[in-house]
Amino acid sequence: MNEAKKGMAIEQPLIPTVVEVIDIVDRTPDVKSFFVRNTDGSGLPFQVQPGQCGMISHLPVGEAMISCTWQEEQEYLEFAVKRVGLLTDELHRIEIGQKVGVRGPYGNGFPVEACKGKDMVFIAGGIGLAPLRSFIKHCFKHRQDYGKITIIYGSRSSADLCFKEELFDLWPREQDTQVFVTIDNPEPDWDGHVGFVPAYLEELAPSPEGAVAVVCGPPIMIKFVLQSLEKMGYADDQVITTLEMRMKCGIGKCGRCNIGSEFICLDGPVYYLEQLRQLPAEW
Ligand code: FES
Repeated sequence: MNEAKKGMAIEQPLIPTVVEVIDIVDRTPDVKSFFVRNTDGSGLPFQVQPGQCGMISHLPVGEAMISCTWQEEQEYLEFAVKRVGLLTDELHRIEIGQKVGVRGPYGNGFPVEACKGKDMVFIAGGIGLAPLRSFIKHCFKHRQDYGKITIIYGSRSSADLCFKEELFDLWPREQDTQVFVTIDNPEPDWDGHVGFVPAYLEELAPSPEGAVAVVCGPPIMIKFVLQSLEKMGYADDQVITTLEMRMKCGIGKCGRCNIGSEFICLDGPVYYLEQLRQLPAEW
């Protein structure tokens, strides 16, 4: 499971690197992507594997653990930040050219090697698409390594759908790939699917045969999606999820991420369902 962690030692885990914000993209009314690189233009402060996180800091307000996206050959990191409080409010006021601190990478990341040869079923809700998007992009970059790709994504409203260009334009054009999008409630200008992600998943019923499902979203969505996958015949070793929302300090120091004796930041945040079943039912 710790594929991504191997060889990714964090030498100075608490010291952020100052980086420059080189671009900002509005994803939804409350989600922005910040693209950063070293202040001397030399590239990346660190590399991340799909599913890993990075800490982004904006002094003096504080720092937050955020899902981080990087693709091979890219000269920048992307942090997709949802506005949920004081720090993220401040981050959303940042402008291109300003400096922030980043440190990382943190967490084990998705088992991209173990999933080779499998049909991939990605199921996400809201900002939960951000970590899965890294894995999805990895699959497209190494398309021959993975089978059929199914992406099922939902949000509260059409305005809250993240990464619309990829969802509606880029990804559906990829080989052997299907993208299904739903919103929770009807809207006058929405002619797509309406309903919650777990119900839509059961309606679409992607086969568990030779497949792996990767799930990320609000905890309540994850709970019901896992139940749906079980009903559909997915075994616990065919289901992967990430508990990255629990990551705070990222280095086993703050004691805010543990479930039983497990530190999500050190042992996760990515788990197969069979691993989660071994933990106290607090996830
Ligand atoms: S996030 Fe602080 S101990 Fe795990």
